[in-house]
Amino acid sequence: MTSSRFTGRTALVTGAGSGIGRAIALAFADEGARVVVAGRRREPLDETVRLIEDRGGKALAVTGDVSDAADAQALVDAAVDAFGTLDVAVNNAGVFRGGAPLADLSEADWHTQLDTNVTGVFLALRAQIRRMRTQPTGGAIVNIASTFGAHTRVPGAAAYAASKAAVSALTRAAARDHIGEGVRINAVSPGAVETPMSLRPGETEADREARAKATLPLGRVSTTHEIAAAVLYLASTDASSVVGTDLVVDSGATA
Ligand SMILES: NC(=O)c1ccc[n+]([C@@H]2O[C@H](COP(=O)([O-])OP(=O)(O)OC[C@H]3O[C@@H](n4cnc5c(N)ncnc54)[C@H](OP(=O)(O)O)[C@@H]3O)[C@@H](O)[C@H]2O)c1
Repeated sequence: MTSSRFTGRTALVTGAGSGIGRAIALAFADEGARVVVAGRRREPLDETVRLIEDRGGKALAVTGDVSDAADAQALVDAAVDAFGTLDVAVNNAGVFRGGAPLADLSEADWHTQLDTNVTGVFLALRAQIRRMRTQPTGGAIVNIASTFGAHTRVPGAAAYAASKAAVSALTRAAARDHIGEGVRINAVSPGAVETPMSLRPGETEADREARAKATLPLGRVSTTHEIAAAVLYLASTDASSVVGTDLVVDSGATA
């Protein structure tokens, strides 16, 4: 029997037009949620909506840039206007501009990553919490951080590491601030996942597979489904006493 932990609930997923975000959106829909899928580009979001509708689910695409305060608020308003509540939010939108050691890092790459990964999560969280704390049933929020932040570092990723460590810290701080108001906030920190973001420059998927086999304790990267499963757990009542945790899902890389 299919589980349906989110029947009658509304979930907002940012960065849901591709990769991990799309997998999370599909997983919520499969468990009964009405899903608002957000990102900057329309086409990939429409495709996620189509995939959800093909499986019998309900979804709405809303374009917006999470690093813009008005857009972050508009995503929440769209969810409430369409479905009446905002029960779950997943702040998954993020960017990675790797390669350069810190001394060669451009200010543009620094700002792009900090603006989206940190300010974007802050603005999204603020808008989501302001709505959820007014609801009798509160809400649950999951932020997507990364092991390349609070948990480990890799060469050529200083800005990304700083941004994702900030997401882990922001998650804990916000969780303490708002659990008393019925808003439960946690993070998932993936290691390498099967999306283009984890490919090194010039690397093919087969190359990545060989690298993972040789270097990761589990012998492979994580699937998007495995990240979605962790997110759904934290957003569900199964995790009703889990507050401010940062759940690592990384094939054992930081074990
Ligand atoms: N893949 C990995 O190995 C890995 C590992 C650890 C953590 N992560 C994290 O997991 C998340 C998803 O990564 P992914 O691999 O699925 O990459 P992805 O396919 O590039 O997904 C990122 C999504 O975020 C959206 N986005 C980017 N900037 C945005 C903004 N300013 N406002 C709204 N949406 C924005 C993008 O859509 P638009 O361009 O249309 O806006 C895109 O759909 C990211 O936060 C990433 O840092 C990934």
